[in-house]
Amino acid sequence: MALRKSFSSVNVSRNLAKNAVAATCSASTRNNSSWWSGVEMGPPDAILGVTEAFKADSNPQKMNLGVGAYRDDNGKPYVLPTVKIAEQKLLDQGLDKEYAGIGGLPDFCKASAQLAFGEDSSVVTKGLNTTVQGISGTGSLRIGGAFLNKWYPKKQDIYLPTPSWGNHTPIFKHAGLEVKAYKYYDPKTCGFDFKGALDDISKIPEGSIILLHACAHNPTGVDPKPEQWKEISSIVKQRKLFPFFDMAYQGFASGDISKDAFALRYFIEDGHQVALAQSYAKNMGLYGERAGAFTIVCSSPEEAQRVMSQVKILIRPMYSNPPIHGARLVSTILNTPELRSQWLVEVKGMADRIISMREKLKSGLQKAGSSHNWQHITDQIGMFCFTGLKPDQVEKLTKEFSVYLTKDGRISMAGISSSNVDYLAQAIHAVTK
Ligand code: LMR
Repeated sequence: MALRKSFSSVNVSRNLAKNAVAATCSASTRNNSSWWSGVEMGPPDAILGVTEAFKADSNPQKMNLGVGAYRDDNGKPYVLPTVKIAEQKLLDQGLDKEYAGIGGLPDFCKASAQLAFGEDSSVVTKGLNTTVQGISGTGSLRIGGAFLNKWYPKKQDIYLPTPSWGNHTPIFKHAGLEVKAYKYYDPKTCGFDFKGALDDISKIPEGSIILLHACAHNPTGVDPKPEQWKEISSIVKQRKLFPFFDMAYQGFASGDISKDAFALRYFIEDGHQVALAQSYAKNMGLYGERAGAFTIVCSSPEEAQRVMSQVKILIRPMYSNPPIHGARLVSTILNTPELRSQWLVEVKGMADRIISMREKLKSGLQKAGSSHNWQHITDQIGMFCFTGLKPDQVEKLTKEFSVYLTKDGRISMAGISSSNVDYLAQAIHAVTK
């Protein structure tokens, strides 16, 4: 018995050895044919991959509610009239195409900080902000991640709300931070889990970093109320956490740039030093221009200069310096009083159209005969609605109705128009009844 056992274990190890040799041989043959034969196929992006699937669908009624990109009521991409005017102005000036500085265009950076913190904010008037131009929101967050990785004086754990924008985790992991989570959304109410958030935040280890969506939380469309933000600020202070705001939708949530900046401005008033990533993709419709900004609030202008010198050292090897066209457009709009006021009207127009689509979708579901409570559709705010649809319902919606959305049940409200809202309501009713 003992003999047989040892025979069979010899056989097993011989076989293993043979297999290992075979594997090595085939790997080396493969490697001879290409350096990249070992590269595995990766999954499509959870958000941008939806557009690829949408494009391949031939159904004329198809809807792309995946990526957050604004459409007008005819379902067409929208170039803001102010952007067109600014573009013409730039053309008339016959500007050159020289490099921007590493930190981007100074007028753009100043106007971005003023837009976020408010023109009279001490952050701006006292020169406490270090603001650089970033490659839209993603690039600005990435610079922030790199700076925190290099200079944050404590353990670099960043706490994200659950759920958060799908790109947050990869951005911060890529920057070398440890990504953790705090409760935010309550699936039972499709609303803000205020108690859960406070409980979790109060347990975050002192000195950690906390990521906050300034407004129009992506993907849930669920924002804390001003009074709730005040309590969050106080607990963040008690725990000595470092707040990093992601503000990708200023003006796009309520239609009012000051209202949407409430949380950020309140935190400053409450004495926090913050980091901030801004994007002009949504509120100026400059998606492909990649215009954004990253700011760190410092305790003195002298400290701001030291921080700036290090932020530039991080940017230089990443992409040298940012693209100029989008930033010139933003700067022209924000620094020309008539254009700025016109832009404020245009942002409000986009926000209002989305708000009206929320109403129409909710009433469309009621008209279609749905007995579910869809109140959250109008309670949520900003570009997205977190419908509460389960993965199998999402799949049915796509397969049977050619409605494309992310697997988590998020829909981009900006992709809905008067002509397809009823179709969507009927489709959602069909998969949820
Ligand atoms: C989205 O969430 O759909 C947008 O912010 C676009 C993106 O890059 O994911």
